[in-house]
Amino acid sequence: MSVQRITQKSHIKKTIAAPGDKSISHRAVMIGALADGITEIEGFLPGEDCLSTIACFRKLGVSIAVASDRVIIKGNGLKGLAAPGGDVLDVGNSGTTLRLITGILAGQRFDSRLTGDASIQKRPMKRVFEPLRLMGAAFSEHDTAPFTVYGRPLKGVSYTLPVASAQVKSAIILASLFSEGETVITEPQPTRDHTEIMLNYFGADVKRQGNQIVTHPVTRLNACKLQAPGDISSAAFFIALGLIVPDSEVTVTGVGINPTRTGIIDTFKNMGADIEFINKRYYGGEPVADITARTSSLKGMEISGDIIPRMLDEIPILAAVAAFADGRTVIRDAEELKYKESNRIKSVAMELSKLGAHITETPDGLIIDGGYPMSGSIVDSHNDHRLAMSLAIAACAISGDTFIKNSEYVNISFPSFFDLL
Ligand code: S3P
Repeated sequence: MSVQRITQKSHIKKTIAAPGDKSISHRAVMIGALADGITEIEGFLPGEDCLSTIACFRKLGVSIAVASDRVIIKGNGLKGLAAPGGDVLDVGNSGTTLRLITGILAGQRFDSRLTGDASIQKRPMKRVFEPLRLMGAAFSEHDTAPFTVYGRPLKGVSYTLPVASAQVKSAIILASLFSEGETVITEPQPTRDHTEIMLNYFGADVKRQGNQIVTHPVTRLNACKLQAPGDISSAAFFIALGLIVPDSEVTVTGVGINPTRTGIIDTFKNMGADIEFINKRYYGGEPVADITARTSSLKGMEISGDIIPRMLDEIPILAAVAAFADGRTVIRDAEELKYKESNRIKSVAMELSKLGAHITETPDGLIIDGGYPMSGSIVDSHNDHRLAMSLAIAACAISGDTFIKNSEYVNISFPSFFDLL
């Protein structure tokens, strides 16, 4: 176990580059593996989760070279994955790998066995199995990993997601690449659409019509050269740092600003944050900008409804920032937080309380009364990368030293986090 010590900071004037987007890096490996030809990804996130995706696709017979943030994939084509033989595909801590690869494996002509770490073995899979079973897929009994995917011929489906989830949506879209006929997915709320954007970039037929995604099978995907945008979920920590540390201005360059991901920026701005987007451009069909955040007086507010899926991964850092805002912040409709790398409703409340924050759990969110004095303490990441980083940022703006146990989990999505900090 690693323990990281964080001290109070002020006057931060820095420009940093955001690490590659985790969601997009996973998808680039998967879709590149299924394309014909050589896919080159620049700005890939070499975090442990994305390396787990690469390890799984290597076991499926795909040749992948990694040199820091540059990845080259020799795609096997839509029908070219090889049976993993006796090898179990291990996704490590990565829920995205597990959910998305299950969609791909469901329509293969071979069976596969999937597993992951202790946290993965608790994360719900029924939500993925249910729609895939309607498409003709078959799985072993258990609704959690480890499980077996029995490869079967699939047919298109019309499915309404009971819970907004980009991972479930993406598993169905990826399965539809191997299905006969049309697939129509209805989303209760919009979620990140990186799978749709990237598949179309590779020549697939995926259309959005209102709250529906309609796909038709294609005979091939064409390999591409891609630049992954920086991850707004990682940038959010340094944006928060700029907002809450006195006399600071932090710029994070090359950040993906896909509107399905910018809920945290909208929320910070609604709380009174001084945040600016400059130099807007596109990488691989995805909008990108440099983001500057300056020290701001923030006010608490209520957050619920459609914005929640647009900022679900940023709620731990929002909760940390809310502890520095004037007044009450109420987060509702975020029950999904219970099913992440840790139960984030519980773990965020428990650990921020140790720093002196006034924070209460509710069944579907958190209530934070901001502005109370906070000071350094010993806290724990609960083996959750985003909690480790949220605690570290809060610790930069309070007196005394903070010690974060199990801090090595930042390697899941942001290996250079503590060096940059
Ligand atoms: C992700 C989707 C989100 C998010 C996760 C990454 C993705 O999960 O929390 O970190 O890459 O599709 P759900 O949309 O399934 O809740």
